[in-house]
Amino acid sequence: MASKANRRKFLQAAGMGVAATAAIQSTLPAAPAESTSAARRVKIIAISGSPRKGKTTAAALTVCLEAAKAVDPERIETELIELADMKLNGNMAAGIPLEPGQQDDFPALAAKLAAPTVAGIVIGSPVYFGCMTSLCKAFLDRCIALRMRKFALANKVGGAVAVGAVRNGGQELTLQAIQAAMMCQEMIVVGDGRPTAHTGATVWNNGKDDISKDEFGLGTVKNLGRRVAEVALKMAGSAK
Ligand SMILES: Cc1cc2nc3c(=O)[nH]c(=O)nc-3n(C[C@H](O)[C@H](O)[C@H](O)COP(=O)(O)O)c2cc1C
Repeated sequence: MASKANRRKFLQAAGMGVAATAAIQSTLPAAPAESTSAARRVKIIAISGSPRKGKTTAAALTVCLEAAKAVDPERIETELIELADMKLNGNMAAGIPLEPGQQDDFPALAAKLAAPTVAGIVIGSPVYFGCMTSLCKAFLDRCIALRMRKFALANKVGGAVAVGAVRNGGQELTLQAIQAAMMCQEMIVVGDGRPTAHTGATVWNNGKDDISKDEFGLGTVKNLGRRVAEVALKMAGSAK
């Protein structure tokens, strides 16, 4: 209010009348509607790149989404998507067409991820020989279609989860490979938040498809979920 009055005074002092002042002011951008955007609801989606449905990667992502939701249960909606349920042809990323009759579930998944309400995406993969699974890579490669569609994933918050059968079996390299793909999409990559605060969630499957004893790993999973949610809410409060 005070700044508007000051600007009017300045323009009047500069010799401009009321009509000219109004014309100039009409070219100014409207003030952001802070109260509306601050209350925006956001969706955080977790994607499991394991070919085994409902196993350790899915379990870790479920914990991650619970931690994300806990940040603001009123505003945050979550969903777990398992690539094991889908047919994804990685070669299509290079423009190679499907064989006649072949099914491909990527278009529906892409539309879901590109929705403006989706503010955060967590991608989890088992560690396979030191890196992500071929299923996870096929999915990330197919996302080139979203990059070509005016960077439809830009400014969505990205986090990564890696689950291995060994405590240090390649989780960090797996995280970095997922994050590299996220950066190519102009996503905003975050790691696990405080107090662990490193490059993402690193989880250990004790060999019996059980991650419940991995106290440290589950800590990184929860800290990642919370961090993705916090940054997603901040991003939802600002213009894209
Ligand atoms: C082909 C293959 C390669 C694997 N390579 C590694 C590895 O390099 N490092 C590791 O820690 N675990 C490795 N594992 C174990 C899986 O990462 C581990 O069992 C994981 O929890 C599986 O995730 P899921 O339960 O979601 O399927 C490998 C498993 C398979 C099948």
